[in-house]
Amino acid sequence: MLSMHTILVTGGAGYIGSHAAWLLHQQGYQIIILDSLVYNQSFDFPWATCIKGDVGDRHLLATIFTYYSITAIMHFAAFIEVGRSVADPAACYQNNVVNTLTLLNAMRDHGVNTIIFSSSCAVYGEPQQVPIDENHPKNPISPYGESKQMVEQILRRYADAYDMQFVALRYFNAAGALPERNLGERHEPETHIIPLLLHAATHKSVFTMFGTDHATPDGTCIRDYVHVLDIADAHIKAYEYLQAGNQSTAFNLGTGHGFSVREVVSAVQEVTGASLDIAYVEKRAGDPAILVADATKAREVLGWQPRHSELHAMVRSAYQFALLQQEKPVSGIHEVKQKQV
Ligand SMILES: NC(=O)c1ccc[n+]([C@@H]2O[C@H](COP(=O)([O-])OP(=O)(O)OC[C@H]3O[C@@H](n4cnc5c(N)ncnc54)[C@H](O)[C@@H]3O)[C@@H](O)[C@H]2O)c1
Repeated sequence: MLSMHTILVTGGAGYIGSHAAWLLHQQGYQIIILDSLVYNQSFDFPWATCIKGDVGDRHLLATIFTYYSITAIMHFAAFIEVGRSVADPAACYQNNVVNTLTLLNAMRDHGVNTIIFSSSCAVYGEPQQVPIDENHPKNPISPYGESKQMVEQILRRYADAYDMQFVALRYFNAAGALPERNLGERHEPETHIIPLLLHAATHKSVFTMFGTDHATPDGTCIRDYVHVLDIADAHIKAYEYLQAGNQSTAFNLGTGHGFSVREVVSAVQEVTGASLDIAYVEKRAGDPAILVADATKAREVLGWQPRHSELHAMVRSAYQFALLQQEKPVSGIHEVKQKQV
């Protein structure tokens, strides 16, 4: 019975964790969210047990593991900003590595042996070839990417030495939203392109485009966007994979198809009907020209297939969520949909 499966979702008040928690709940899992609400978010998940607290708090973890019968952890909690990790690596390593170690040790102490970890394509660094498969060399260029690689290494050692199993999911660019459930992207500060473009479109502000001289057909960076619900679905499939006794491993999550910044700009203009004001500036150091996933392994081993990751559909859902955030009527979205057809 699925209700016997109780998943502790760390970072479940965040962007991807909240969608995963919702999908898990929809599929009959019991959900416990542990989130320190770093960005002063609030819990708005009546269908989950929500605990405000830090993953690095071993006393709290001991209480949670004693009180609840946790079947597995889905570990989303982390600091995600690459730029901040360069400016303040200590905070990044502390939260993403040290606190994760505290979590893993609490799991060991309480006999919880299954974890699905939010890794990132940042573990690969500058790609040597694209699409990038899981065997691509790991040369992260930021403390953020290193923190994800370090945790993967720790997970591998723990799985070898102790009764522990893991799946590391290396997401490429998460996108999209679930406005029907008031779920979407709310990063503070926001560094991701689609919400930034939507903000520029809805606030008539300037969007800054970094670099038009990359080695790509239109000169702008190409990225692989994957809908959060597809990422959430991969978590459930990864959990089932481990439950079936399969071995610990890592999977890329992407569509295998990249879109340039200019293509994303066009999609946002088409969906919103806005004409964007763009400031063109130099490319950023360390920004690879192309990051596209080879997700064959997730497809073949997990049976994972992205079903929501069409670019315009992702932009539309994010736009609808952005409008909800502004407390504007969402009727405009229907006009947008009709324009698209
Ligand atoms: N967004 C992406 O495109 C992307 C891509 C690759 C990997 N990831 C990874 O996916 C995970 C989720 O990313 P997101 O975009 O949802 O980020 P997010 O910032 O929206 O969510 C992270 C959540 O974790 C919480 N948190 C942070 N540190 C905590 C701690 N010590 N204890 C308890 N809660 C804590 C925050 O309050 C927040 O709610 C992260 O691990 C991130 O590195 C994200």
